[in-house]
Amino acid sequence: MSEVTTVPRTTIEAVGQHEGKRVQICGWVYQKRSSGSIHFLQIRDGSGLIQGVVLKNEVTPELFAACGKLTQESSVVLEGDVRADTRAPSGYEITVRDLAISQLAHDYPITPKEHGVEFLMDNRHLWLRSRRQHAILRVRAEIIRAIQEWLDGHGFLRVDSPILTPSACEGTTTLFETPYFDTMAYLTQSGQLYNEATAMAFGKVYCFGPTFRAEKSKTRRHLMEFWMVEPEVAFCDQEQNQVYQEELVSHVVQSVLSHRAPELKILERDTTRLAKVKPPFPHVSYDEAIKMLQENGKEVSWGDDFGGDEETVLANLFETPFFVHSYPVACKAFYMKARTDRPEVAACADMLAPEGYGEIIGGGQREDDFDILQRKIEEHKLPMDAYTWYLDLRRYGSCPHAGFGLGIERTVAWICGLDHVRETIPFARLLYRISP
Ligand code: 4AD
Ligand code: MG
Repeated sequence: MSEVTTVPRTTIEAVGQHEGKRVQICGWVYQKRSSGSIHFLQIRDGSGLIQGVVLKNEVTPELFAACGKLTQESSVVLEGDVRADTRAPSGYEITVRDLAISQLAHDYPITPKEHGVEFLMDNRHLWLRSRRQHAILRVRAEIIRAIQEWLDGHGFLRVDSPILTPSACEGTTTLFETPYFDTMAYLTQSGQLYNEATAMAFGKVYCFGPTFRAEKSKTRRHLMEFWMVEPEVAFCDQEQNQVYQEELVSHVVQSVLSHRAPELKILERDTTRLAKVKPPFPHVSYDEAIKMLQENGKEVSWGDDFGGDEETVLANLFETPFFVHSYPVACKAFYMKARTDRPEVAACADMLAPEGYGEIIGGGQREDDFDILQRKIEEHKLPMDAYTWYLDLRRYGSCPHAGFGLGIERTVAWICGLDHVRETIPFARLLYRISP
């Protein structure tokens, strides 16, 4: 290909804007099929997939031979004419006129045949290029975009919280510890405590970032490093908190349906279920949930926390996301406010995704009374010194406030219809995996 070209460079996603014209595309060979006089190149460029057709009698013999040598994942810069083709998944095809090979790939390990999950996870850095993974991560990006759109549009200010912290938010048993010069620090489990400070400064806030839990759990729902969006609102009770949650989650699902339909199709997601995700969501009390579990053969009694199995049973009983509210205070974190009418339960709720997915949100109203909070910190045997600043929030202008945390990966798993969270994040950190 000549060094100087006047042909405009485009992406596969935008190729339709150049119908009948010549364009340049930079990408990788996804698949190749050849007959004697024609090569069919499936080219991907990150934005989409398109078929490039190389006709023997329309290109030079050298170019035709070079295209014959192309292998899976070789990188190329090609020029060709865009044609509408109703049979093509993208709606267009490209007649290749010129092509330069950037690098010829040898023995790409992920072939179109079936591979085991461990092999694919070992090759995650390459697996990301395949169609299904590509679709999932594009849905993930849309979920994150829609979350920020909704929050920014509803008066929430993004104020991020630190990753390195001196104290625990979600219990001391799941902390990742790291040396911090002469002392120790922990990787954050949740930005909530800092959000409570920023909510008192800015009213309605959210933080968004990675959070860490050293949970020795090897389930389809657990990651050691996951991303969480955490809104927090001053002068807000648990009722209003749940309204924010159902509106946010509905907006996210509807945005994915309208902007990522081709991806959901690749994933073979039943979208009729997602179309039903509109507020209000059903509200189930913890007491009712216990009964539902017992009726469905689970041996649970009042006071037990729910594990993955219980969540699956409950989540199979619903068609849309739903709230389980008013858990026993004893199951929940130190900062939870007890309900004034029923002090044995907290003003809190989890949102569970349907179709067996389970918890995607944990949230609640925060204890705003100085004395009660101080007592709770003592009861949970937390180091009081580390929480002095947090108690200050109850010393200076305390008010009712509430918030929640939405786990991105579990939300992606549910919306995409996946059976494990390992595919919902570019590079999953699992109990026995920290590479690549
Ligand atoms: O229910 P959690 O532990 O709640 C909190 O951390 C609160 N401090 C949030 C807040 O109120 N600001 O976690 C919230 C969500 C869960 O519902 C789940 O979606 C996700 O974070 N999550 C995980 N996702 C993947 N792997 C794990 N190990 C997770 N632990 C929690
Ligand atoms: Mg939770």
